[in-house]
Amino acid sequence: MAHDALSSHSSADPFTPAADSALWRKNFLLGAATASYQIEGAVDEDGRLPSIWDTFCATPGKVLAGDSGAVACDHYHRWESDVDMLVGLGLEGYRLSIAWPRVMDANGASNRKGLDFYKRLLTRLKEKGITTFVTLYHWDLPQHLEDRGGWLNRETAYRFADYADLMSRELAGTVDAWATLNEPWCSAYLGYGNGHHAPGLANGRFATQAMHHLLLAHGLALPVLRENDPSSQKGIVANIGRGTPNSDSVEDQRAAQLFEIQHNAWILDPLLKGAYPEALFELWPGTEPLILGGDMQIISAPLDFLGINYYFRTNVATDGAHGFTEVPLEGVERTQMGWEVYPDGLRDLLIGFSHEYSNLPPVYITENGMASDDTVIDGRVNDTQRISFLKRHLAAVDEAIKAGVDIRGYFLWSLMDNFEWAFGYERRFGIVHVDYVTQKRTTKRSAELVSQFIEERKERSQRA
Ligand code: FCB
Repeated sequence: MAHDALSSHSSADPFTPAADSALWRKNFLLGAATASYQIEGAVDEDGRLPSIWDTFCATPGKVLAGDSGAVACDHYHRWESDVDMLVGLGLEGYRLSIAWPRVMDANGASNRKGLDFYKRLLTRLKEKGITTFVTLYHWDLPQHLEDRGGWLNRETAYRFADYADLMSRELAGTVDAWATLNEPWCSAYLGYGNGHHAPGLANGRFATQAMHHLLLAHGLALPVLRENDPSSQKGIVANIGRGTPNSDSVEDQRAAQLFEIQHNAWILDPLLKGAYPEALFELWPGTEPLILGGDMQIISAPLDFLGINYYFRTNVATDGAHGFTEVPLEGVERTQMGWEVYPDGLRDLLIGFSHEYSNLPPVYITENGMASDDTVIDGRVNDTQRISFLKRHLAAVDEAIKAGVDIRGYFLWSLMDNFEWAFGYERRFGIVHVDYVTQKRTTKRSAELVSQFIEERKERSQRA
């Protein structure tokens, strides 16, 4: 029977992984991800305080078409049917984030109504047998903390540990894995370094200091999470970028290395080696953050898992000085974001990390996916590019596993179309389409195929 199931997929099958793929293993977790500000809406309800993203969206010119997360996918009100949808697709894992401004007031006291929302949601997910990955900080910093300096203020790291304490006391037992932060690179660099994200500040020195406080926040939260919720996994989620040299010249090769130091080692070195990469400060002279004694030990405490988000590669050349500059390649496949589709980058980075960091913890791919200009035609969305994208990236994950990297699961970004930060609602990353006028959800073809694969895998393992 197992043979029949397999042979029903010809090589032309648009999604199903190869017969020998590690993804057929039933303990390889397959799920989808979202984030609070991108889907919840209900920004003024039940005592939620403003976040830096509410403020940023209200600032003219910051977000495409003046969009904001005020309504988004209205998930705050539609969470029950959204959970049914996720369960209906057969997804095994769900990665979501908690909105800090929903659950704590400005004095650090809990906001019961906000907390109850996440309790209900997580309890339901557990009842349905879903493995839950909860991110504490997916960029929606309470505005009142930004008013006191945000991530430039060391105090924010301690406030984050208080928040982690509250959440892990309240939600212990409903969370399988806690991630402290989502993509500190984006919070620090896009938020404080070039101003493309909230809070919109642009200063290199700010970026490195914000990063240090973000990582400190992570390190301070870890023991608190361990104490309050010992049976769950604890980790952090980092976005990683592949940089490839535009030529064989020594200068361009160095440029590609510097790109990866700036994108990857800036975060992974302090977490896994307890020190920032020296080259970072050659790239950005004079931006060394203020580090207090003991900080690096706190930051580099052991992790149970590392979440990896991967999207594209960047082709770079030397900028003629000490840095790199992007040289976009012509004639390559790109997504609606303009990002190059480059699955090999995911494989190569994962294998590279396993050599670079002897203490690399088990990895989950916590985000991977692509945006396309999907439309509903006769009740269907045929997102062919996404199907091919997912298949190729899952094959890259499989190759990394075969090369010895301990990768335990994969979360699609995203469960449904949502508010894509500075790009608003125009870019559609979901495997489920959302009509923002009616809030109707329509399963895309990619979701159907992922769902069929999970179903088939389940059947095979039951037969085995
Ligand atoms: C990542 C973010 C996520 C989503 C994807 C496309 O950087 O973590 O929220 O916006 O990009």
